[in-house]
Amino acid sequence: MESDYHFTVMKNEAIKNLNLKRNGTYLDATLGMGGHTDQISKTRNDIKKIICLDNDINSIKLAKIRLAKFDDKIEFICGNFKDIDKLINEKVDGVILDLGISTYQLLNADRGFSFKSGNKLDMRISLEQELTAHEIVNTFSVDKISEILKNYGEEKNHFKIASEIARQRTRCEISTADELNKIIKKINKNSSKINSSTRTFQALRIAVNNELDAIEKFLEKSEYILNKGARLVVITFHSLEDRIVKKFFKLSESKCLCPESRMMCDCKKKQTLKIITKKPIRPSVEEVLENPSSRSAKMRIGEAI
Ligand SMILES: C[S@@+](CC[C@H](N)C(=O)[O-])C[C@H]1O[C@@H](n2cnc3c(N)ncnc32)[C@H](O)[C@@H]1O
Repeated sequence: MESDYHFTVMKNEAIKNLNLKRNGTYLDATLGMGGHTDQISKTRNDIKKIICLDNDINSIKLAKIRLAKFDDKIEFICGNFKDIDKLINEKVDGVILDLGISTYQLLNADRGFSFKSGNKLDMRISLEQELTAHEIVNTFSVDKISEILKNYGEEKNHFKIASEIARQRTRCEISTADELNKIIKKINKNSSKINSSTRTFQALRIAVNNELDAIEKFLEKSEYILNKGARLVVITFHSLEDRIVKKFFKLSESKCLCPESRMMCDCKKKQTLKIITKKPIRPSVEEVLENPSSRSAKMRIGEAI
């Protein structure tokens, strides 16, 4: 059964590749609506424990209801996966990291993630955090906003949009998705292929939650929480995320970082991961037809050695 609030992406591929084993402990580092944990629990009833983490307390509350029947095997933790070393004190036999946000978060107008009419500008995954999209749009300098749109949204009109935001906000605070949409549409007049606001909204979300930094930190720390043979299954949804995962896997698999000109290796680099997916796994045609938002998903898998 799918949750009413989120369609779990590549759940069969994820579970198959986690190589679940008897008495194993697993980490679902992006619990969301609990789709992957639900599938793990249904697939094997002889695992020891699933640690379920999310930075959004409301998502945890909903997932808890869905996962009530597996309660005795699940530990719920609210926190940012970038702090994984402080949040758990045991090693695990597999990790699922399904990045981004859930449909529940996207469609909830109060959370302000989407450019749909009526939404306020917020975009915080953790409601404990202070920085919101509203603050970025209304207080950051033109250069800073421009940099965010360029680096996190790959928006080619980054400077023009940032300048227009700064011009408009001197007249009146920019408080809603509609107001921001209007500004973007003024600049991206002929952009018809994807909604011309998508790139700006994605960029703001990444900046508000410092998402790329969190992924990098989690991956760096993963070495210390994975038991030998544990699989790290990562699902990304855009090229900025995928690039980080690909680079990390490559670095972890390498045995030497010495420049080619050096005759003998003296870098003491150790291989920590074996790459299982030379090319990322993509959702099936059937899955994309059933759930079009899965179309950009890429799954990469590494195994701790
Ligand atoms: C795509 S959803 C996961 C959906 C889930 N796999 C399912 O099938 O229901 C991603 C989840 O990760 C959470 N998240 C994003 N960044 C996070 C971070 N840095 N730390 C902890 N949770 C995070 C979001 O709040 C969201 O609930």
